[in-house]
Amino acid sequence: MCGIVGFTGKLAAAPVLLQGLERLEYRGYDSAGIAVLDNGAIRVEKVSGRIAKLCEKTGNGALVPGAAGIGHTRWATHGAPTDQNAHPHLSNDGRFAVVHNGIIENYLELRKELIRDGYTFQSETDTETIVHLLEHYYDGDIKAAVMKTAARLEGSYALGIVCTDTPDALYVVREASPLILGVGVGENYFASDVTALVSHTKNVIYMEDGEFARLTPGAITVYDCTGRELQKPISRVTWSVEAAEKGGYEHFMLKEIMEQPAAVKAALAPRIHDGKVQLDGFELTGEQLRDIHKIIITACGSAYYAGCSGRYAIERLCRIPVEVELASELRYADPMVDEHTLVLVISQSGETADTIAALRECKSRGAKVIGIVNVVGSTIAKLSDHVLYTFAGPEIAVATTKGYTTQLTVLYLFALYAAGKLGRMDADRYAALVRELQHLPRRIQQTIDMNWQLPALASRYASQSLFFIGRNTDYAVALEGALKMKEISYLHAESYAAGELKHGTIALIEENQPVIAVCCNESLMDKTLSNIVEVKARGAKVLALSFKGNKKIVSQADDVIFIPRIETIFSACLAVVPLQLLAYYAAKGRGCDIDKPKNLAKSVTVE
Ligand code: AGP
Repeated sequence: MCGIVGFTGKLAAAPVLLQGLERLEYRGYDSAGIAVLDNGAIRVEKVSGRIAKLCEKTGNGALVPGAAGIGHTRWATHGAPTDQNAHPHLSNDGRFAVVHNGIIENYLELRKELIRDGYTFQSETDTETIVHLLEHYYDGDIKAAVMKTAARLEGSYALGIVCTDTPDALYVVREASPLILGVGVGENYFASDVTALVSHTKNVIYMEDGEFARLTPGAITVYDCTGRELQKPISRVTWSVEAAEKGGYEHFMLKEIMEQPAAVKAALAPRIHDGKVQLDGFELTGEQLRDIHKIIITACGSAYYAGCSGRYAIERLCRIPVEVELASELRYADPMVDEHTLVLVISQSGETADTIAALRECKSRGAKVIGIVNVVGSTIAKLSDHVLYTFAGPEIAVATTKGYTTQLTVLYLFALYAAGKLGRMDADRYAALVRELQHLPRRIQQTIDMNWQLPALASRYASQSLFFIGRNTDYAVALEGALKMKEISYLHAESYAAGELKHGTIALIEENQPVIAVCCNESLMDKTLSNIVEVKARGAKVLALSFKGNKKIVSQADDVIFIPRIETIFSACLAVVPLQLLAYYAAKGRGCDIDKPKNLAKSVTVE
């Protein structure tokens, strides 16, 4: 996720902008830049890498004079994290500079159109289209140019704009991306995150979708999308700087769990058009897909468990055999891979050593590789033949949450895409599943909202070693639920395919043994219910996880966590959320260092 800041006042702008960017550093970024208005010109300074480098380059801002400017930290989505792709972007005539937080979904078509009209692009970003559109529509009336530009944009954006013709003014626009105005005395600010504002002012105006504003040192004017002036209330922020960095949440993990509806939406939105799934800038034809004899999914840890869930969706919808392999095993397995194998390599960081090695091994044997990766420009993204980015934004907590659910989302999209191309689904079913996917973000939010009782359940169940059981897609969720519990609460947790219990593990069930039973697969409900009865007969206390309205489960389990009803193949994306929260509250109750669990690293770059 990118961050934006802006300042207009009587002081030097650059040091204020740099300080604001430092406050946004916690969100994660890979490049940073500022643009300052001075003497009728815009001076842009930007670097790939750390803000410290930008401070060094600009003498902590002293080398960039001017009292109005905009700044940006970039988390690469379109184009690698290079100096050219860093924001701010300048118009060809040097009159406008723009910073942008969000994704412009129709940027390819806008880019083509602008190139046709003679504009030249310096970067690969979606954002650069915005600054050229501003130049294109500008005829001396900035408000009109901003409104016409915004009307052309599809997607999400919070924009900060400066123009040489108005040397002390900043312009901002918001659509589906956070934007807050800071109200000062003789100076005004904007930022994508209140963190960047609270050390300057606690008086803020929250911008709504479709609104835009003009800020000068002495005034803030907000307009609606028709250009009508609005009277916006000024609110008072009570957060401390420290709390604001985590958006008011106690831990990054909790913040990232809560961000899942938005993250999943970001993964879905650019890929569903007119009820059809599209891939990013590449296609697989029915003929190419028929030439694939098997798919291998390879990854480590949670990414591997996402693959375990994804396998069910791909096999069920596409009828192509799928093998899910731990990358640390596959790399040494002399794998049976050839040019008829498609390999899906999943990684949040894109830098996991074992996953990179497995990818190289498969490629050397002729396989085609699609990377499902969060970090743009990472090694796995570069080595893959094609990349499907997960658009989760920066994930800071070591335990992945939104990284995992966005990986699942991309796997679901891939399964639907391939099934459609192969002609293996009738049109009504395809359309219904696409619609169901589009509801995922809302359903995740409902899942979070309906599970307020999880802190109490965590203290009841997370008191000793735990077993997680389930069948099929539910088993895949059990694997991830147990891993979450282990890594942050340090409790012993094991997952078992429910049908396997009686082949040995049931010997471990004693009085009061906590068992978490995932039962979201309706066709296997009675089977899992009979496993619940078996463990209960041996004294286990059972916390079941099932869809709302399932009366059978209420009569068998000691406690039940509910999720909204959903197509079984997509249920993992909902069912995992209460398990993340259960682990979170268990760890909190035990006083663990939730965001940085002992012995673990966010990115495992060594074998
Ligand atoms: C999950 O919570 C873990 N921290 C870990 O299992 C992680 O998923 C694994 O190391 C893979 O990382 P990657 O997605 O960055 O490749």
